[in-house]
Amino acid sequence: MVQTTINPNKALWEKGDFTRIAATMRGSADALINSLGIRRGMKVLDLGCGDGTTALPEGRLGADVLGVDIAANLVEAARQRATAEGLSNCRFEEGDASNLERLADKSFDLVVSIFGAMFAPRPFDVAKEMVRVTKPGGRIVMGNWIPNDPTLVAQILKISSAYSPPPPEGFVSPMTWGIESHVEERFGKAGITREKISFLRDTYMFDFPGRPAAFVREFRTYYPPTMNAFEAAAKNGREGELQKELENLFEAQNTTPNGDGTTIPATFLRVTVSV
Ligand SMILES: C[S@@+](CC[C@H](N)C(=O)[O-])C[C@H]1O[C@@H](n2cnc3c(N)ncnc32)[C@H](O)[C@@H]1O
Repeated sequence: MVQTTINPNKALWEKGDFTRIAATMRGSADALINSLGIRRGMKVLDLGCGDGTTALPEGRLGADVLGVDIAANLVEAARQRATAEGLSNCRFEEGDASNLERLADKSFDLVVSIFGAMFAPRPFDVAKEMVRVTKPGGRIVMGNWIPNDPTLVAQILKISSAYSPPPPEGFVSPMTWGIESHVEERFGKAGITREKISFLRDTYMFDFPGRPAAFVREFRTYYPPTMNAFEAAAKNGREGELQKELENLFEAQNTTPNGDGTTIPATFLRVTVSV
C-alpha cells in the first residue's frame, strides 16, 4: 500500500480560500510593490504568493516573476489571475518555503514574501533557502505580522489561538518572524550580518465592501486559522463568544464606521535583507 503523508501546513492553507481575504488587501500590496524599485527583466521570487496579490503587481512592472506557494488551490488562482491579465511573465508553482530544492542558488534579484514565508515551518531553513536563492547584491523583502501588536491581524491570530487547542510540541509560532531579534538570528545563521538587515514598521489596509460583522464572517468561513478556532470553539459551545469577540475587534478598528464598507489598518514588520 502506498503511504501518503499529509503535510499539515499545506492542509491548513488548502482548507480555506485565502483569495477571499486577499481581495481586501490589493491596494496596500500595489503600494508596497511600487516602493521596491522593481525594473523590467528583474528576476523576482514571490514566496507564499497566495493568489498573486504581490506577484501580479511585480509582473505589471515588467519583472520576470516566479510565485511559489504550498497551497495548490492558491497557485491555481494565481495562474488564473495572471492569465486573465495577460501577464505571461508571471509563473506559479507549488512549493515549500522551507525547502526550495528545485530552485538554483543565486537565481533571483529580489525575493519577496509578504505574510507568506512566515507561515512555513522550520524558520531557520526558510531564512537559509531565501538567502541561497538570492543573487549576491540582491535583496529579500519580508512582511511579517507582529506578536501582541494591537492592530487587526495580530489580534485575530491572538484571539483565534486562545480558542484553538495548544499547538504540538516544538511548534514555532509564525509570529516570531515579527520579532527583530529572531529575524536577525535566523538570517545570521544563514550568513547575513546584522548591518545587512533593516526593519520598518509599515501598515497594510484591509478594504472590505461590507460591514465589520460580514468581514468577520469572511475570516470565519475562509481564513484557515480562524476556521480552526471556530471549529474548536464549537466543541465547547463557545462559537458565539468568539464571533462576538471578533466583531468587537473589527468594529473598534474600523476607520469608516459610518460608511457601507470596512477599512481597517494593520501594522507589520517590514524586513529588508541585502544579500
Ligand atoms: C496570509 S497568506 C498571504 C498570501 C500572499 N503573500 C498575500 O500577500 O496575499 C499566507 C500564504 O502563505 C502560504 N504558505 C504557508 N505555508 C507555506 C510554505 N511552507 N511554503 C510556501 N507557502 C506557504 C499559504 O498557502 C498562503 O498562500
